[in-house]
Amino acid sequence: MAQSRGQFSSKIGFLLAAAGSAVGLGNIWGFPTQAASNGGAAFLVVYLILAFLLAYPALMAELTIGRYSKANVVTALANLNPRAPFSQLGWLVGFAAVAVAVIILSFYALVAGWMLAEFFAPLAAKLANQEASLWFKTGHFQRDALMCAGMSTLTVLIIARGVENGIEAWSTRLMPLLFLILIGLIGYVLMQPGASDGLKAYLIPDIGRLLDPALILSAMGQAFFSLSLGVGTMLIYGSYLRDTDNLPRMGASVTLLDTGFAFTAGLLIIPAIYVAQAQGVAVYSDSGELIAGPGLIFQVLPALFAHMGGAGDWMAIAFFALMSIAALTSAISLLEVPVSICVERWQLSRTKAAWLSGGVIFSLSVLIIWQFDALFSLAITASTVYGQPLLGVTLCLFAGWVLSRKKLLSELAKGHPEIESSLFWKIWPTYVRFVCPALIILTFVQSLR
Ligand code: TRP
Repeated sequence: MAQSRGQFSSKIGFLLAAAGSAVGLGNIWGFPTQAASNGGAAFLVVYLILAFLLAYPALMAELTIGRYSKANVVTALANLNPRAPFSQLGWLVGFAAVAVAVIILSFYALVAGWMLAEFFAPLAAKLANQEASLWFKTGHFQRDALMCAGMSTLTVLIIARGVENGIEAWSTRLMPLLFLILIGLIGYVLMQPGASDGLKAYLIPDIGRLLDPALILSAMGQAFFSLSLGVGTMLIYGSYLRDTDNLPRMGASVTLLDTGFAFTAGLLIIPAIYVAQAQGVAVYSDSGELIAGPGLIFQVLPALFAHMGGAGDWMAIAFFALMSIAALTSAISLLEVPVSICVERWQLSRTKAAWLSGGVIFSLSVLIIWQFDALFSLAITASTVYGQPLLGVTLCLFAGWVLSRKKLLSELAKGHPEIESSLFWKIWPTYVRFVCPALIILTFVQSLR
């Protein structure tokens, strides 16, 4: 089994794949809208601090456990210490992580399908007729299920091709494209009237809000979601890293790429909100709040594109291509969690494992589409508000307490021989044992009150 495991073929391949997982709807939609409704740059500052103070150490816990074990999340956690009760505990936490990954993907693929539908709507208007375009624009069971099936199929096809030819090859193709589309869109939006007001709102912090507990909480949730933590995605990607790669540096680069992308996406979305306002599009709801949720993506931005005339259609196509691509490279990392287990524990072929896991998750998505009001926000809350932080803490504890200091050191030293004298080694082992779990729990408990 060990020989047949996939591996990333290069540093850049891993970085683009891990950044592909991290950069998703959370960065382009979640981050800018949270920033817009939470004091602009104040949110940005807190987010950046938490990303490096809480999310980076937790990311390192996952990457290190992954590369040390060279296995999927269940096997990895169960084998860290083979004695009872650690092994049973590891097994349990591992399966909880898979369950959360499956739930996240079941709603994520659905939202990704909406992005695909919005991408096809202006295309259909250009290539076919208004009626076809309207079919894509209006939410209904067939559209949602079909678009979600499309996204799920793409995800399965990439994952079935394996680590190097699937995950790495497609992340390497799609991530640069994603960045180019984003830069192009920013260039266009910043030239429109009203954009500079958006830049001001985004970049000048409302200092008074820096210590607002609600803001800190949203920023932590956002950082954990954005870095794909707690469900074993980063663990499995870490397990495909070569021993010669320097883990702390890789983790730091992924964190920087992720936060950098979120920041850059803010340069598009927040000015776009102000440009829309300057064009007479309603950007505040009746109760005076900024329209930040689905309304922003599906009403405000499309209304802005419609105001732009001919260029607007192309803007819409480019924007929703951006969203669909970002969602796809994230979805593949979520699907890899169950697939790696089917392959490594149950000896299924990769292709079978991918179609089987993808099929199960797609049935869950269909269930959510069917019982949308009851299930959609329930799935999101259960997995991201509860599942992710609690599992994040557990993974820190496993790295800090179950894996001995000696083993941690020898694992990290593989790609970084001078690790013992580094600042990282002076701080992180203790930090991941005490400080990180305590801070995450504290923030989590705050949120329950
Ligand atoms: N991080 C991605 C985003 O920002 C989503 C994602 C991929 C994710 N893998 C994950 C979220 C694992 C939580 C856990 O959109």
